[in-house]
Amino acid sequence: MRISACTEEYFNQCATVLATKSKLLSACFTHMTWPHGQLIIIWELQTFTHNHRRAREAIEDFWSCIQTNKTNNRRLIHRSKGVAGTAMDYLNFLLCLVLAWVAIYFLLSTAKKGEAANPRILPPGPSPLPIFGNLFILGTKPHISLTELARTYGPLMSLQLGQVPTVVISSAIVAKEALQKNDISFSSRTVSDAVCALNHHQSSIVWLPAAAQWRNLRKICNSHVFSNSRLESSQNLRRDKVKDLISHVQKCSESGMAVDIGQAAFTTTSNLLSNTFFSVDLGDPTSEFAREFKGVVRGVVDETGKPNFADYFPLLRKMDPQGIRRRMSIHFGKLLGLFNNMINQRLQGKRPSESTEGNDVLDALLGINQEKSEEIEQSNIPHLLLDLFTAGTDTTSSTLEWAMTEILRNPGKLNKAQAELEEIIGKGNPVEEPDISRLPYLQAIVKETLRLHPAVPLVVRKVDSDVKLFNYTMPKNAQVLVNLWAIGRDPEIWEEPNTFKPERFLGSEVDVKGRDFELIPFGAGRRICPGLTLATRMIHLMLASLIHGFDWKLEAGVSPENMDMEERFGLTLEKAQRLRAIPVRV
Ligand code: HEM
Repeated sequence: MRISACTEEYFNQCATVLATKSKLLSACFTHMTWPHGQLIIIWELQTFTHNHRRAREAIEDFWSCIQTNKTNNRRLIHRSKGVAGTAMDYLNFLLCLVLAWVAIYFLLSTAKKGEAANPRILPPGPSPLPIFGNLFILGTKPHISLTELARTYGPLMSLQLGQVPTVVISSAIVAKEALQKNDISFSSRTVSDAVCALNHHQSSIVWLPAAAQWRNLRKICNSHVFSNSRLESSQNLRRDKVKDLISHVQKCSESGMAVDIGQAAFTTTSNLLSNTFFSVDLGDPTSEFAREFKGVVRGVVDETGKPNFADYFPLLRKMDPQGIRRRMSIHFGKLLGLFNNMINQRLQGKRPSESTEGNDVLDALLGINQEKSEEIEQSNIPHLLLDLFTAGTDTTSSTLEWAMTEILRNPGKLNKAQAELEEIIGKGNPVEEPDISRLPYLQAIVKETLRLHPAVPLVVRKVDSDVKLFNYTMPKNAQVLVNLWAIGRDPEIWEEPNTFKPERFLGSEVDVKGRDFELIPFGAGRRICPGLTLATRMIHLMLASLIHGFDWKLEAGVSPENMDMEERFGLTLEKAQRLRAIPVRV
């Protein structure tokens, strides 16, 4: 800011350029970094006096005036006026400029001091490449790549995924600190571009930020969709669908045919959910309508699970370069249309033959809408059903497929579970939901399956504001990935972490309800999976029914030792190759 910095040559250069071609002003400014104050003065003076010498004198006069008598504005105004012959408002402009500069300088230096006292240190992480950051590190199995990376950088690490700053959590201790101690700050999610199709994210329980609208939907889910009384009253609907599964298995056993377990699990889960929600079968493989429905749900699950460039480079969102949002719009449109149809029929008093009034979730939601429309508008009901369906189907069916895979790979464990069923339920008796609490070994198998094969391996969250975690700063708006897969296989916590050992849970208090952070396959904190109770009922019921009364043989050429255990990463962590096995009636 010293006037001596303005040499004759420098001044003349600027003055000439600025006076003659004021449109070059911005170009000059970008080149001359520090002496902005001088430059503006020069330019302004040039507009009033075309005499370089006088202009320079005016500047010198002006600065020495400020330096010697900073508070004597009157003198400054008087002298400047005399030298440059300018108007009052011009001097006001100069003064404002100087004051603004002083204010900005002061603010910046205070901010810097604040930062030095309270530094924003990001967690460690690999160096990012230009533009792509660490995107290529993810590979096709990000849960495994991130687990390996955490061995180098620790359980709290930073990545730059394209344009998205990301924090990865890979241990129970850090997960607890984030999802329990700092629950509020970590309770929103980064919204993927795919789910913005048809503005679904604006009404979605999964994607809404944790504010009033989301709280309302959670309240409705807790008290009307997944409450114990609701689940008790819809039990008979699920019992019937499990009977259908068993008769399918029985037919295969009679003809010696293998059951496609993944397929059967998907059909049954769809039926269990669609019956719980609206007393209709949507998983019936013989129905054209159900086949289309299944294709659409599959489409939603597949598109949501695909890596999308638009998520890492938000500028691409408008272009939708891979067409993912466009295809999602078609799938969402079909599902929302179907749910809207069901709502209209119900409102016209038409109900499916097997449904009893007030029994299913749709009745409950319409009831709330009619009593207190501010809690849920009718237009939001299809979005909620869509979320529950897509969040519930693949997760549940893939967990069942993994559970069957693990016990067929470990025939000793299968025998143990069968022995427990025979003792508690009795040969030939069907398993019912209330029996589950009396089957500790079966429960241990399910926990062990969820530990090794969490259906959602990476839970996505977002930090709403700068938060400190173990002295590191989680920067505002950073994406947070909680690696449940890594936590479930952490050798610091689990003995023989990669071995299927349900026995580890016998006599143990550890459960999956979000309190024990070493086992959180349903997440934790306020955004924990609301479908947890329904999911566990369905998985235990289906698994117990499949192994109670049937032995299972692997197809020719496959043995427990060489079974394919390859995973496919998507929205859920599925088996890459479907499990096929032949049931044998015992
Ligand atoms: C084995 C089965 C399932 C597993 C492993 C599972 C896992 C998860 C996980 C890890 C989350 C994220 C939780 C978090 O952010 O902390 C989640 C969220 C959710 N799940 Fe599940 N889930 C399963 C079944 C279901 C079922 C059956 C339904 C409904 C019918 C369901 C509905 C939801 C919904 C709506 C959310 C979003 C909640 C929110 O953001 O507030 N899930 N689930």
